[in-house]
Amino acid sequence: MNPFWQPSGWPPPSDSRPRILLLGASGFVGGGLWTSLTPRHEVVGTYATRPLPGLVRLDLRDEPRLAALAAGGFDLIVHAAGLVPLEAAEADPALAHRLNVRPVEVLLDAVRGSATKLLLLSSDNVFDGTRSRYTEDDPRSPVNVYGRTKTAAEDLLLAEGGHLIVRIPLVFGRGPWANTFLDRLAGPTTAARTDLVCAPVYLPSIGPALARLWDRTGVVHYGGADVLTRFALMSAVRRALRLPTRVVPTEGGSGCRRPPRLVLRSTRHTLLGPGLDEALAHLAA
Ligand SMILES: NC(=O)c1ccc[n+]([C@@H]2O[C@H](COP(=O)([O-])OP(=O)(O)OC[C@H]3O[C@@H](n4cnc5c(N)ncnc54)[C@H](OP(=O)(O)O)[C@@H]3O)[C@@H](O)[C@H]2O)c1
Repeated sequence: MNPFWQPSGWPPPSDSRPRILLLGASGFVGGGLWTSLTPRHEVVGTYATRPLPGLVRLDLRDEPRLAALAAGGFDLIVHAAGLVPLEAAEADPALAHRLNVRPVEVLLDAVRGSATKLLLLSSDNVFDGTRSRYTEDDPRSPVNVYGRTKTAAEDLLLAEGGHLIVRIPLVFGRGPWANTFLDRLAGPTTAARTDLVCAPVYLPSIGPALARLWDRTGVVHYGGADVLTRFALMSAVRRALRLPTRVVPTEGGSGCRRPPRLVLRSTRHTLLGPGLDEALAHLAA
């Protein structure tokens, strides 16, 4: 049991009430962060194509607008926007760089010399998946375009210093609006890989975890407690939600290369996402 992410563990044990810019609040992870952060903090959230009440429109490619927004005196900018589907990044590397790397340069230029800290959400796809587990000290060696763009974005922040990169693994759970994960279980069947191992993290735990970690700088990992195949994860979620969807085991796949085993662990803190049983009980409640 890892109670930090439960409402009783929130807000974090700190006096700080930062003013936050949340880039990508209309997304799956950003939506979860919006739900976690808005009750306790002053948050400005952005969307690009999915207009939602309370969010402001921003295209990351509109650099003057991005820079002006970032220079708005925020304590923290949580950057959860960009091109995330691996196949989309693989199909258009230039667009992936435009959306995942270049905006970080613009953000850094905009906040340089100010008190604003950047928190970049990065990914376990910066690793090649050949080790049993990865800590913050392990060398990165991405095998796909998405992973290479996340690595390049990390490099920009690391070169600048004073900012924070939080690497997260596959995220599961229900978002307030975007539902990348559960959408896979929406049809009559869904294919799930038996040869990809992950340590997925439960969406509602990410906001509280970030709030515990956002005074750090450099790189931190926030991983899930349980290690299982994608097939086992999808099957467990299907069972917990009593969905009629048939989860079909598959091996291999077309499209981009995926690291076979991604387990994030930390040497810098002891936080881990909730165990699968606890998370699924919460999801099904
Ligand atoms: N989901 C995961 O399992 C996972 C795992 C590891 C790391 N991450 C990281 O978590 C972050 C969020 O991922 P996600 O799964 O929430 O992705 P998502 O659901 O696809 O959300 C992407 C967000 O980026 C916004 N966006 C896309 N193109 C944009 C543009 N041109 N200008 C401005 N905003 C744009 C989207 O806005 P609209 O929706 O309004 O268009 C949306 O808010 C990413 O940094 C990703 O690398 C996610």
